[in-house]
Amino acid sequence: MNNHKLRIAALAAGTALVVAGCAALTSSHDAERDAVALMKKDFHSRGQATLDRLDQDEVQKACTRYAETGKLPEGEAQHLQQAQLATVKYPADGDYLGDWKAGEKIAQTGKGKQWNEKPTAKAGGNCYACHQLAKHELSYGTIGPSLYHFGRTRGYGVDMQKYVYAKVYNPQAFTACSSMPRFGYHGILTEQQIKDVVALLLDPKSPVNQ
Ligand code: HEC
Repeated sequence: MNNHKLRIAALAAGTALVVAGCAALTSSHDAERDAVALMKKDFHSRGQATLDRLDQDEVQKACTRYAETGKLPEGEAQHLQQAQLATVKYPADGDYLGDWKAGEKIAQTGKGKQWNEKPTAKAGGNCYACHQLAKHELSYGTIGPSLYHFGRTRGYGVDMQKYVYAKVYNPQAFTACSSMPRFGYHGILTEQQIKDVVALLLDPKSPVNQ
């Protein structure tokens, strides 16, 4: 290739880059829409993995917008937390404490929301994947804070019970963009199951508090 041809080739490559760059700037919204459309076309509802998981709600949209920092501006975070707190359905009988033994099984079970599970099968809470819960556990995740001795250090009162119920029902009500799943809001755990994990954290007899 002579010099002249080289220069033309370089110019063409440069122009292509600029065009590609502009396209990326102007059409990120279109690209997102196209990606979701593609996933909806290729992904089929099966078992407990359903297509509604592809539609972002207000929380997911806001948290995606600030995904790089993982933090919303203060005002927006407060607004979002208030709106999410209003979604919490507290038990009609006003009782937040279930059975810690049932709660322990739920906390140590990672089943739920997967394609190979029957839509009617009960899910687990998978809490151990992110939290330490008891001394005897062989393994646990550390994405979330340790909950070992939670009741002992935070208290066993009814206000604390109500807080843990609401936190498990919808963590976004207290921490915008938390990575903890919204167990009640998304119908992953039933009211009774949430009461049982509340007991796991707040019953003085539970291994969490030994
Ligand atoms: C995918 C990871 C993940 C899973 C699964 C998870 N959590 Fe969390 N959890 C977190 C993170 C991260 C935080 C800290 C941020 C926040 O407060 O939301 C947290 C915070 C909490 C808190 C608040 C602690 C405090 O000091 O007030 C409680 C209570 C809690 N989790 C209970 C549970 C229970 C019970 C389960 C199971 C039903 C569970 N979590 C499942 C990630 C998780």
